[in-house]
Amino acid sequence: MILIKLGGSVITDKKEYRKFNTETVSRLCKEIKDSGQDVIIVHGAGSFGHVLAKKYNLNGGHVNNEQIPAVAEVCYDVRELNSYIISELNKNGMPAISVPPGSCFIMDDRELIIENDEVIKGFVGLGIMPVLFGDVVLDRKLGFSICSGDQIMEKLGNILDIEKVIFVSDIDGLFDSDPKNNPDAKLYRDVNEKILENVKKETSVDDVTGGVVEKMKSMLRLCNGDRECILINGNVEGRLLSLLKNEDVICTRARGA
Ligand code: IPE
Repeated sequence: MILIKLGGSVITDKKEYRKFNTETVSRLCKEIKDSGQDVIIVHGAGSFGHVLAKKYNLNGGHVNNEQIPAVAEVCYDVRELNSYIISELNKNGMPAISVPPGSCFIMDDRELIIENDEVIKGFVGLGIMPVLFGDVVLDRKLGFSICSGDQIMEKLGNILDIEKVIFVSDIDGLFDSDPKNNPDAKLYRDVNEKILENVKKETSVDDVTGGVVEKMKSMLRLCNGDRECILINGNVEGRLLSLLKNEDVICTRARGA
């Protein structure tokens, strides 16, 4: 089974609050279906989550009661985003069901805990894809905190029998510097912990690249045995399909140390 995260940067327009990229999601779901691969999908929140989460500092935990309506609103927004994704999956012949982390699981000091995986494994066994997503989750220590899709990926990597992990984003992969500012930026085709150390030093001031570095760390943690983790650009038509068909495509592949 292949574990795929559809990042918020590709399924939504991160600059516009609650803007869903319908055509891109529809195309990506079709590419996944056409590949014939057995997959499980997680998705990010994009502008359905980050805008209000940032405004009310929801990842800082419960510090004031102005945050409470914002928690409810973000939970509403990401569930709506999830329903759009589920709808596209079902339309494309991939039966899927919503499993909202904030309604099913708990965090402990920002760490996602999945003590009971019966529902996830049970639906997979039935041939119905349980779709988890970035959400606001009750936190034993902080009241609530943000659970990212990347954290969910790491948990599912331990729970399910996953042979390959794919992060679908809006960039071609990991570069040695920010390609938006530097036209000569070089794409790493492969990454390991040593390479990542250098990337971090060079571009630690850049938020965008910083985000990629964190994602790469998640990817490296997900690499075990001969499991491969790949970062790919979902905005390029056909690229995900080619990757799923094991063709050689532009991407960054992560391997353990
Ligand atoms: C964020 O999830 C969840 C919320 C802000 C509620 P992710 O971190 O996985 O989302 P993206 O992929 O970066 O948008």
